[in-house]
Amino acid sequence: MKVLIWVGSLRSDSFSRKLATAAEAAAPEGWQTTTTDGRALPLYDQDLDGDEKPAPVQELLDAVGAADALLFVTPEFNYGIPGPLKNAIDWASRPAYRSPLRDKPSLVISHSIAPTGGARAHVQLCTVLSGTATPLYHAPGFSIPAIHEKFDPAGALVDEGVAQRLGVTLERFGAWAKGG
Ligand SMILES: Cc1cc2nc3c(=O)[nH]c(=O)nc-3n(C[C@H](O)[C@H](O)[C@H](O)COP(=O)(O)O)c2cc1C
Repeated sequence: MKVLIWVGSLRSDSFSRKLATAAEAAAPEGWQTTTTDGRALPLYDQDLDGDEKPAPVQELLDAVGAADALLFVTPEFNYGIPGPLKNAIDWASRPAYRSPLRDKPSLVISHSIAPTGGARAHVQLCTVLSGTATPLYHAPGFSIPAIHEKFDPAGALVDEGVAQRLGVTLERFGAWAKGG
């Protein structure tokens, strides 16, 4: 199963990226993962969204189209989803209800340094994805608090509780995405 991991934060040392790496390591057998990099995407502009799209946009569309399932790993910015993630979703969302996001089984994991675990961004992302007809696996909501305490200095996930839940959730999500 090809899984595209959307990393909600652009910064190179982000906990989102570390979590994405941990998810790749914990992925069930048979998963092939790739991760998005929203840094090269222009801001969404319908004037640029014609037959010939900017190369980074076309790359994103191809990656979404080729994926069997999507995994979103995102922090919360000002009680919502980070602008770059919303921007990437907007690019991938056209034409409305016929975009590559339609019917693509998806899982959302949020995190934060705060005790709330980015739960508001989690809910907001689910709302956005319902607008793109993207079916969601309800884990129930997987939001990780105090994310800065979950990794060692080398960036490896060292929190046993999170690691265990990540493994179980990916396994169940994979089975659900395959229709099982
Ligand atoms: C612009 C900005 C806004 C933020 N707003 C929130 C917020 O509303 N709620 C929250 O829990 N954390 C907030 N944070 C803290 C982030 O959860 C924290 O910086 C997190 O590590 C960012 O994710 P990253 O490590 O993947 O870049 C904010 C951080 C930034 C930079």
